Amino acid sequence: MPKNGQRSTPRIAPSILTADLGHLNDEIRRVTEAKSDYVHLDVMDGRFVPNISIGLPVIESVRQSTTLPLDVHLMIAEPEHYLERFAEAGADLITVHVEACRHIHRTLQQIRETGCQVGVALNPGTPLSAIEEVAVLVDVVLVMSVNPGFGGQAFIPTSLSKLKRTRALLSAVNPEALIEIDGGIKPENAREIWEAGADILVAGSAIFSPERSVAEAIDAFRAVFAD
Ligand code: DX5
Ligand code: ZN
Repeated sequence: MPKNGQRSTPRIAPSILTADLGHLNDEIRRVTEAKSDYVHLDVMDGRFVPNISIGLPVIESVRQSTTLPLDVHLMIAEPEHYLERFAEAGADLITVHVEACRHIHRTLQQIRETGCQVGVALNPGTPLSAIEEVAVLVDVVLVMSVNPGFGGQAFIPTSLSKLKRTRALLSAVNPEALIEIDGGIKPENAREIWEAGADILVAGSAIFSPERSVAEAIDAFRAVFAD
C-alpha cells in the first residue's frame, strides 16, 4: 500500500454480480466510461459458496469490452487447478480464498507465475492470522465484509476492526500491498471503511441498482472523498 501520506482516495471496483447480465456489454461500457478503477468479477462454484455465478467465457467477453483491469475474485474450491486459465481469459488480479486452498503459499506463488497480480481473501469468520505467513507474497488482501456468495447483504461491522489490524500487519511486512473490502459497501459507509484502512472498495448493489445510473452511483462514491 501506498506509504503513509500517499493515500488520497480509494479505488472503486464495481462488482457485476448484480448487473444486468443480459446487457453485460452495456454495463461494462458504463463502468468504463465512469472511470472505475477495476471491474470486479465474482466467480462462484456452488461448492466453496452456496451460489453459482460466472466463469471463464464471461471473463473473456468482458476482457474484449474494456481496458480496465479485471479483478477476478475466485470463490471456488481448489482454485489452483484454474489459475492459468483465468490468466489467459484476461484477469489482471486473481484473488483466492485462504479457506479454499490446502497449500495457500504455493497457490499464491502459482498466481505470481501467471504474471497476474496476487490477491488473498479472508471470510468474515477467518482470523487475520490465517494470512500472516503469506502476507508478504501478495499485492492485495481482500477482507470480506459479508459472507461470500450473494450481493445485497449488510456490511458486518466488525470488519472495521479487521481492516485496521490488516493495515497494521501489512505496514509491518508488506507496506506496498493494497487492502480491498467487499460486501455491503455504500457511499454512506465508504468513509469510515476508507479511514479504517481499505484502499479498494468493491460495490455491487450500490452501483447496479434501479435507483440510479452506474455513473451517478460511482459519482456518489467519489463525492464522499471530494473534500
Ligand atoms: C459477494 C461478492 C461481492 C458482491 C458484493 O460474495 O464477493 O463482490 O458482489 O455485493 P454488494 O456490494 O451488493 O454487497
Ligand atoms: Zn467479490
